Amino acid sequence: MTRPCLVANWKMNLTPHESVALAGTIARRVPPNVDTVICPSFVALEDVARALSGSLVALGAQDVHEESAGAFTGSVSVSMIKDAGCQYVIVGHSERRLQYGETDVSIQKKITLALSAGITPILCVGETAAEREAGKAAEVVTRQVTTALHGLTGSASLLIAYEPVWAIGTGTPANAEDAARMVEHIRSVVTSSGPVRVLYGGSVIKDNVVGFVGPQKFDGVLVGGASLDADSFIAISEAVAAQYVV
Ligand code: PGA
Repeated sequence: MTRPCLVANWKMNLTPHESVALAGTIARRVPPNVDTVICPSFVALEDVARALSGSLVALGAQDVHEESAGAFTGSVSVSMIKDAGCQYVIVGHSERRLQYGETDVSIQKKITLALSAGITPILCVGETAAEREAGKAAEVVTRQVTTALHGLTGSASLLIAYEPVWAIGTGTPANAEDAARMVEHIRSVVTSSGPVRVLYGGSVIKDNVVGFVGPQKFDGVLVGGASLDADSFIAISEAVAAQYVV
């Protein structure tokens, strides 16, 4: 059975000190049958890596630059996040696409670089409210997935998070049945023959996570707001873990 995965995206929250404290608390309490990934800000990566050392929790970055080095003031490269201890990187989050104009093509470059460095990409895809109302959700997600994974062959290990933009940070998650239909759709357009786990993201809390995760549904969740509090994140983890007890 596929192991479920839970990703905490802390976005632009928490200082390095606060990140270390929260990461340590979470690491002591995570259920062993769930793969947990914590994605703090760049400046907290090294400290959080130390706090997670020897634990069951892996470290991820929230973004990475599409070039490997050079004159890109303010940006962070794949080799930098790798050296800081990252095993994962979030790529193409809708906040990056919408606030910083990231394109499917630049996202594809980031995925290629991450994979070549042995870092597992967490590709975020999802339609806006307008695209959904226009009946284009599947079309948009198909374009995002196929462009981002263009040229990918072999058995790369990947995570894809389906995060409808209108569900992120709004308190209104997708309808679980609608979202589950997207899992099959995403699997049908992925070209990699390697292990691909598909996650749901968007206003996940402990009270709704069970609707999304489990055999035949999503392989886990990407959690923003509710990952900033140890009790709420652990409650989500435990609810996910309970779906996978054999
Ligand atoms: P949210 O964020 O859980 O706060 O909706 C999810 C995300 O943006 O990854």
